[in-house]
Amino acid sequence: MQRDPNYPTICKIEKVIDETPSVRTLIFSDDVLPNVLPGQFAMVWIPGVNELPMSVMISHEQGKAAFTIRKLGEASTGLYNVAVGKYIGIRGPYGNSFDIKEGKLLLVGGGTGLVPLLRLLTFVKPSDDVTVLIGAKTKAEVFFEDMANDILEKNPHRVLVVTEDGSYGEKGLVTDLVEKIITETKFEAVYTCGPELMMYKTVQLSHEKGIFVQASLERMMKCGIGICGSCCIGEDLVCRDGTIFDGDHLLANKEFGHTFRTKAGILDKF
Ligand SMILES: Cc1cc2nc3c(=O)[nH]c(=O)nc-3n(C[C@H](O)[C@H](O)[C@H](O)COP(=O)(O)OP(=O)(O)OC[C@H]3O[C@@H](n4cnc5c(N)ncnc54)[C@H](O)[C@@H]3O)c2cc1C
Ligand code: FES
Repeated sequence: MQRDPNYPTICKIEKVIDETPSVRTLIFSDDVLPNVLPGQFAMVWIPGVNELPMSVMISHEQGKAAFTIRKLGEASTGLYNVAVGKYIGIRGPYGNSFDIKEGKLLLVGGGTGLVPLLRLLTFVKPSDDVTVLIGAKTKAEVFFEDMANDILEKNPHRVLVVTEDGSYGEKGLVTDLVEKIITETKFEAVYTCGPELMMYKTVQLSHEKGIFVQASLERMMKCGIGICGSCCIGEDLVCRDGTIFDGDHLLANKEFGHTFRTKAGILDKF
């Protein structure tokens, strides 16, 4: 019998991996989340704290699922601190998935935006030539570089890191490298997830070159199932209509890359 995504499942944390000083992966057993589509997310209940949307992370162990969390505010810090043997609740999976093309593919990720992109990597064909760009502020905040290389072991590929302070990889913004690379190489498709301004620039650059591009948006979510409206961007609800949108659709939306809604629903500028 299929599990109803709207009924919470309780999961026991079995393992914790520190990725950086502020990013951690929690691993647990589950029947459904190990096999979600690339880009799908779950609503994660941290008992006594809050409920948060989280992209579903891959796990190399059969039957295990994972979340990778950056500690920011109270809720994410609460999840980050859930110890081995403690419990979380999950609803989902929710959301659509990337439309995976074949050929030369470019993936552009920042921070925990790499989570859905890593799952996308597990879906590419062995003949696809894949370039992954990872953006971070400093060397200490770079993670998943080795994992991306491992997943792509059998593909023609490159994984390039850009740090804002130049402490690792190229110095600058990851979008500087996007601009350079899409001028040199004709990509079939570009996929991006991370800070919205990074995605906005990546979508703009790809669109100008006529390349198919998709972005996975992270907006304020409360219900995760199209009821509360807190994740709206123009006419779209990110939880119900996304989280993945085509570039041309996004560029026609005046809110993308310009404004976001706070927890109180107030429109603010990036
Ligand atoms: C579909 C979806 C998938 C997500 N997947 C992940 C994931 O895999 N891993 C993960 O760690 N988070 C993920 N998030 C973000 C997560 O749900 C929370 O929004 C985030 O952890 C902050 O929550 P908070 O309540 O702790 O912080 P808040 O109290 O909301 O914010 C605390 C501080 O952090 C800043 N902040 C909030 N969110 C972000 C952000 N995304 N980037 C930079 N600064 C921010 C705020 O401006 C504020 O200054 C996802 C969000 C969505 C919508
Ligand atoms: S989070 Fe409630 S409508 Fe999207």
